[in-house]
Amino acid sequence: MGALSKMTVEDLRGQLRGKKVLVRADFNVSDPKTGEIKSDTRIQAAVPTLSLLAKEGAITFVISHNERPKDVIEVLKKEGKSEDEAKKIAEERLSLRKVADRLREILKEKQVVCSDDDIRFVGATTGKEVQDAAKMLGQGQFLVLENTRFHPGDEKGDEKLAEAIVRDTGAEIYVLDGFSVAHRDQASVTKVAKYVRDKKAVAGILVKKEIDYLANALLHSPAKPYYAFMGGAKVADKIKVIENLLPKLDGLVIGGAMLYPFLAARGLKAGSDPLKRAAADVEADVAVARKAAEKAGGKLILPTAVVAVSDSGETREFDAVQGIPDGFRIRDVAPAQLLRLLGQSYAKTGEPKTAVWNGPFGLFEQEPFDAGTNALLAHMSELTGKGCVTVTGGGDSEKAIKAAAKKTGAKPKFTHVTTGGGAMLELLEGKELPGIAILTGK
Ligand code: 3PG
Repeated sequence: MGALSKMTVEDLRGQLRGKKVLVRADFNVSDPKTGEIKSDTRIQAAVPTLSLLAKEGAITFVISHNERPKDVIEVLKKEGKSEDEAKKIAEERLSLRKVADRLREILKEKQVVCSDDDIRFVGATTGKEVQDAAKMLGQGQFLVLENTRFHPGDEKGDEKLAEAIVRDTGAEIYVLDGFSVAHRDQASVTKVAKYVRDKKAVAGILVKKEIDYLANALLHSPAKPYYAFMGGAKVADKIKVIENLLPKLDGLVIGGAMLYPFLAARGLKAGSDPLKRAAADVEADVAVARKAAEKAGGKLILPTAVVAVSDSGETREFDAVQGIPDGFRIRDVAPAQLLRLLGQSYAKTGEPKTAVWNGPFGLFEQEPFDAGTNALLAHMSELTGKGCVTVTGGGDSEKAIKAAAKKTGAKPKFTHVTTGGGAMLELLEGKELPGIAILTGK
């Protein structure tokens, strides 16, 4: 996929005054355990599109899901709540009311709107309440609707739900601005597009930036040498990305709990499974890692020096070449060897001009197992400073960046931090994202 060949909201400048515009943002930002906003990055990321719509005099309806209400209800029921109690608690926690409040603060701060009434919230996604609230709205104003996933039909791609959202808002144009939900073929993402009156479905500014960036810089025309740094828990989640990127890569660096199956696939004694999984699951991961390692050949950079913890809590450094005893579980890569291996590889290929990082290299939430991830983040910042295009994304990346910034006082620098976790991975697997596929072509 190359640059975005879809119509964008910027193409509609001059045509939006008084138009009713339905924006699908991704405000999946709340902590399902507390209902507090975990990070407002995604809310901030919607500002450019919302600001353009306000300036152009559009009447804007914002829809989004927030977390997975079904899962929260199940957890609460296991904790002893009745169906009704569980539903009530989940709906309070995952309401978009707080998100709308935060959006109001941000848009006021940025002088996109001036009064509180310019951004209203309605506690429904369809129906009379939405119709009545829609009537109150004027040019340059916003209405945030309630969490679309309070309707089970959203995730099922229910056409009737999509049609009702469009009918009750009166939307004429659809804007997809939630890049991080573009991989979901759901009522509020893809299906709403075909019901808007003008039959126009366009990319928001965020979606355009993300697609142009990820598709061009990482897939279509990456500057070489090109390195991928893959960490996190499970190799099965990353294997398609690894396979799709490998032909373009000069180096594939493995870290995190994923190291374990790669070391085992190399025939090394790697201790016990860091994720404490059943033997059959571990074997399956080792088989996947073996296949990936064969394909990667000399491009594979596999740290063997690690920090591991025994079941009785003893922390020790090992080199898997000498063997890690059973009962010790890998928790981090040892930074010195990681950096040495990178230096050796760069001496052959040249320093990277493109680097993508996905997934922590150790258990960064817990000191001292943040050393590997922090060393990698410092390395990424250094590469960014030298003009390498560095890209990362996903909730864990954002958390690791924040944690490193707190510890060192300096925020790790990347060329682009995408708002998409799953969407980024699917794009890098080479898939066409359903939310992008339905947009009107140029
Ligand atoms: C995400 O955070 O990845 C998106 O908001 C999609 O959420 P989902 O995985 O619950 O569909």
